[in-house]
Amino acid sequence: MRYIRWTATALLGALAFACFAQAPAKKGKPDVKKLDFGKLPDGTSIELYTLSNAKGMQAGIITYGGIVVSLTAPDRTGKYADVVLGMADLAGYLTPPPYFGAIIGRYGNRIGHAQFSLDGKVFRLPANDGANTLHGGLKGFDKHVWKATPGTGADESVELTYTSKDGEEGFPGNLAVKVVYTLTAGNELKIDYTATTDKNTVVNLTNHSYFNLAGQGEGDILGHEVMIAADRITPVDSGLIPTGELRSVKGTPFDFTKSTAIGARIGQNDEQLKFGKGYDHNWVLNKKAGMAKAAEVHEPKTGRVMEVWTTEPSLQFYTGNFLDGTLKGKAGKIYPQRSAFCMETQHYPDSPNKPAFPTTELKPGETCHTTTMYRFSAR
Ligand code: GLA
Repeated sequence: MRYIRWTATALLGALAFACFAQAPAKKGKPDVKKLDFGKLPDGTSIELYTLSNAKGMQAGIITYGGIVVSLTAPDRTGKYADVVLGMADLAGYLTPPPYFGAIIGRYGNRIGHAQFSLDGKVFRLPANDGANTLHGGLKGFDKHVWKATPGTGADESVELTYTSKDGEEGFPGNLAVKVVYTLTAGNELKIDYTATTDKNTVVNLTNHSYFNLAGQGEGDILGHEVMIAADRITPVDSGLIPTGELRSVKGTPFDFTKSTAIGARIGQNDEQLKFGKGYDHNWVLNKKAGMAKAAEVHEPKTGRVMEVWTTEPSLQFYTGNFLDGTLKGKAGKIYPQRSAFCMETQHYPDSPNKPAFPTTELKPGETCHTTTMYRFSAR
């Protein structure tokens, strides 16, 4: 009975979601829509918040994992398509897919050997990626329920909060996290991350949206042209842990300083590409402090453009190398290898074990605040 009730709710959530996807653009005052997105097996209700702007762009965000479940953007003829991969309903997100659209924490990306030391004490974490810890451990921020409050500003927004307990996944300190998603009048999805702690800890927050600017499920992303404003990467070992070196991209398949198709060099005989099974690396952004443009992606068939702006020092550019076509996503689409790319703005991987990297430490009394913006246009 309980299962039937849960399935029925999930179906209703899916239906609501489908209706949302077709909803006409709303104009005028902010009016963040809230819908039921189903229930977890323990009965917890999950909500879907829909942000829209006057131009007609929409972003769907659920309270489970703070997941961006849909994001529409116009092509050069003004036609909107959903440009992020996602699952058809809540049950799909519990399977779980590889971090689709989710908030990642407490430490996005990898921590080598599943441990780090802080103030002379060793903290052991669960190893969930070979010998290493990936994306916060076994139950990262992507698998928790966040509390949501719709914003009241001119642009539609939703504020999500979650407090990660002292010791959760092995990390020290109660960490209070706030993530605000705002859909601006300028077709930008802005994400503001804030965190405070009551003990010294480490933090690295990001969002794991998988983009396909031709539309989710519309083939591979090898023709997308990418520019990354970075002269160096942090090369990795075979477990994708940075070696500590900052390596110039000059003359390598990692040079995206000039816009280049993702597929142009991805098959080259290169040790780093072999380790990542494609691109799955951290680019050290040339920017100094503050908000700056980190990357721009252009999809030539539809003309869609996505710019990435961030206050963070680096960007993990991942080309969906681990997607394998076994997941059935929204609208029944399947997601083969390299059918999406991620641009995860962040601090460098394994920073807690690399004193020369910009620090990810957070102390009581300090506030960690970062902003990333995905801006959409067409040409
Ligand atoms: C990140 C990692 C990848 C992979 C994906 C999720 O982008 O860098 O190696 O783990 O997340 O599949």
